Amino acid sequence: MPHNNRIFGSPPRRWTALLALQAVLVTATGCNDTKPYFTPERQAEDIAYGKKMYSENGCSRCHSINGVGEHVGPDLTHIGVKHNNDTVEGGNWLYKQISEPNSHNPSSPMPAYKDKMDNGSISKLTDYLGSLK
Ligand code: HEC
Repeated sequence: MPHNNRIFGSPPRRWTALLALQAVLVTATGCNDTKPYFTPERQAEDIAYGKKMYSENGCSRCHSINGVGEHVGPDLTHIGVKHNNDTVEGGNWLYKQISEPNSHNPSSPMPAYKDKMDNGSISKLTDYLGSLK
């Protein structure tokens, strides 16, 4: 009978313990996700989530897309052409308009969403708007 290490046990058990620990860490940190970030599927997921944010945050109370919604603010049917989300400037502009509309127009009647949505949700909403071409 070999001498057993109190914490990890005999060498084979030590490996098992380390592998189990690694599995826990990998699961906890999400590092097992080997999918590259910018896949078309992932982009489609982000856009779909952004669309959900658009409806959940009541943007259509003031904006219209494809004839659905009000006309207090500009029509957003082709907003992705005007503010091209494929460029950093275009993406940042849209992001800022949603988070702090006052930064573009000090007397904007549009509410600021920076305290109503987290950064990821605003980004995805930006992806959605940028896709409207
Ligand atoms: C109370 C009305 C109101 C609500 C609600 C509102 N907006 Fe606006 N929005 C405006 C107005 C008015 C403008 C015109 C520019 C300005 O004054 O800021 C505008 C401008 C914009 C623009 C720029 C349009 C352009 O052609 O340059 C975008 C993009 C936009 N809003 C997105 C959104 C999104 C996304 C939401 C929901 C999260 C939202 N807005 C909610 C009133 C509103």
